[in-house]
Amino acid sequence: MKDFRSETVGMLVAEQPLRASVFDRFGIDYCCGGKQSLVVACEQGGIAPDTVIAGLIASDAEVELDQAGENWLNASLTELVDHIQQTHHAYLKGELPRLELLAKKVARVHGVREPRLLKVESVFSALSTEILEHTAKEELIVFPFMRSLEHVAGKAKVPLAAVESAIDCLESEHNEAGSALMQLRELTDEYTPPENACASWQALLAGLAHLDKDLRVHVHKENSILFPLAIRTKALTFA
Ligand SMILES: [Fe+2]
Ligand SMILES: [Fe+2]
Repeated sequence: MKDFRSETVGMLVAEQPLRASVFDRFGIDYCCGGKQSLVVACEQGGIAPDTVIAGLIASDAEVELDQAGENWLNASLTELVDHIQQTHHAYLKGELPRLELLAKKVARVHGVREPRLLKVESVFSALSTEILEHTAKEELIVFPFMRSLEHVAGKAKVPLAAVESAIDCLESEHNEAGSALMQLRELTDEYTPPENACASWQALLAGLAHLDKDLRVHVHKENSILFPLAIRTKALTFA
């Protein structure tokens, strides 16, 4: 049987993306915390590893019946960056401005009665600015460079240490986004609308919940699949 315990949670999701829903259920962070082994992640969350492993086995069994999960482990660098840009980045460019307007409106109308909405608006606004700067950097500098690594001419231009340092910087920005999401989850009781929430309030929380989920999948693909592949590809040539 597969050794789930010592495998990192990032790799477990990279091998089978639908396992992410099991980790979501137990509150295990597989994107920014993706380098931790399953046992360590369970210890930190006070969860029995066997319970999570049972969930993973059940999820894998379902996947065998329904091969719906996308597996990006065998994709090329170009396929990965094209996919991330066309799906996750395109989604963010459309959704962040919409949610920002909604957050402002809901904070203005209901912020006096529920002051946490004012904090939601400020945390989200900062997160939105940071994410758009981060994705622009990826699209303008990092992704073109990663595509170039697949061609011999592009491999020698930048030393391996420079690639690793650029990736460290992106990963630390991912961690900052992860912390902002954690704050938003706490401020909104896991995106649960109160009984008397108006339609805009409900739409904001539904939008934030979807953003949270998409961003975690997005960061997971970069941290656990794309970045290691870029370093492996670069390391195949002289640094
Ligand atoms: Fe990205
Ligand atoms: Fe990123």
